[in-house]
Amino acid sequence: MAAPRKIHLKDAALRRLLSIVFITLSGVSLLLFLLVTNSNSPIVSRHLDEVDDGSPYADDICGFSLPTQNDLSLELEKRNQLPPRNLDLYPTLAKDHIVIVLYVHNRPQYLKVVVDTLSRVLGINETLLIVSHDGFFENVNKIVSDIRFCQVKQIFAPYSPHLFSKSFPGVSPTDCKDKDVASEKNCKGNPDQYGNHRSPKIVSLKHHWWWMMNTVWDGLKETRGHSGHILFIEEDHFIFPNAYRNLQILTSLKSKKCPDCYAANLAPSDVNSKGEGWESLIAERMGNVGYSFNRTVWRKIHKKAREFCFFDDYNWDITMWATVYPSFGRPVYSLRGPRTSAVHFGKCGLHQGQGEKKACIDNGMVDIKVEEYDKVPHINSEWDVHIFKNQPGYQAGFKGWGGWGDNRDRQLCLNFANMYHCRNNASLL
Ligand SMILES: *[C@@H]1O[C@H](CO)[C@@H](O)[C@H](O)[C@H]1NC(C)=O
Ligand SMILES: *[C@@H]1O[C@H](CO)[C@@H](O)[C@H](O)[C@H]1NC(C)=O
Ligand SMILES: *[C@@H]1O[C@H](CO)[C@@H](O)[C@H](O)[C@H]1NC(C)=O
Repeated sequence: MAAPRKIHLKDAALRRLLSIVFITLSGVSLLLFLLVTNSNSPIVSRHLDEVDDGSPYADDICGFSLPTQNDLSLELEKRNQLPPRNLDLYPTLAKDHIVIVLYVHNRPQYLKVVVDTLSRVLGINETLLIVSHDGFFENVNKIVSDIRFCQVKQIFAPYSPHLFSKSFPGVSPTDCKDKDVASEKNCKGNPDQYGNHRSPKIVSLKHHWWWMMNTVWDGLKETRGHSGHILFIEEDHFIFPNAYRNLQILTSLKSKKCPDCYAANLAPSDVNSKGEGWESLIAERMGNVGYSFNRTVWRKIHKKAREFCFFDDYNWDITMWATVYPSFGRPVYSLRGPRTSAVHFGKCGLHQGQGEKKACIDNGMVDIKVEEYDKVPHINSEWDVHIFKNQPGYQAGFKGWGGWGDNRDRQLCLNFANMYHCRNNASLL
């Protein structure tokens, strides 16, 4: 009797031991499992947790068709593959460079000012300047091709409505106009929420912005592997000499000082403000003058292609404020210094002079004083961050100014988001 009992005891002890081992192992594997599945969250990065694998967004149907190109469009697309200019003068880029993208349309008198201010920017010769053109204008092209102060890469939006005189994305003879009713006039097009049909001149800006974003981040061989920030400026932004160095400081402080900041800005979101002059950093709503962000943020934006492309507003910035940023689920702040490093100077908005009737005339004379403190980087890494909460401005719920109701525009926009993401169809530049 003793023996079996002993065995039984031994058996029980073994079983106890085994269950301890089992519980420990399950605990460890559960922990491992949690660690693996959560590796994207809290510790690593709080909100911007997408994996940067260059994959298409969730509901992507891989396949796209772009409008038939004409000779000019094809020719410009070929030019986009040319290497940057001035490689002989600036053979290498600084390791931590912030790429600058300047997007331009057809205001050469403004562009001259911007290029002149850029030539005085400290550190400009360490980086690559990409100039993205909406349409082709010889006098605009000349200003850019004369730049000698850094590497310059020119790209031209090959589907700009300005390149197509007889067909979409330009105007085609069968298109509806103004408030035409398609069934009565037997014309083509979908009116916007206010009953107006598309106007190629008006839609060109949003198309260009979206094409450019997709091309710079995902298309160009010069930048599709860029891991740092990219700064975006426009042809009517006056850039101060300290802009680049300030931005380098801001982007280096951003994740530490302001985890809620998606971007760093050269200028306040209120375009009329020159800043507060405080001894502090400022976090506030995203502005549209001199904004910069990295690829993590681009991936988040790209995932919202549908929101961007289907919102009935012809302004890219209002579209972002009303649909894309709110869809991130938390306030989207941008970090900046207390004094502006860029000023919007254009008196003629691109849309103001949109009709041929009332062209907006302005000789591009600017009266912006560059003070001593605008010439040296002045951002102190010891400063605290002052957050402006609940600022007024466009936000979720705004229904849009219209001008973006035509299905062809919406599809073209979606196709821009897809064109670098179909592996078999990759039309990488
Ligand atoms: C490639 O593009 C064509 C249209 O140009 C489309 O019909 C096709 O489905 C695409 N193929 C893939 C694999 O994405
Ligand atoms: C860039 O410009 C600075 C002066 O602002 C000069 O000292 C430096 O040598 C230049 N670097 C290159 C690569 O041209
Ligand atoms: C990009 O910026 C965001 C926001 O500041 C940050 O959370 C993220 O880690 C950055 N990504 C990279 C690759 O540096």
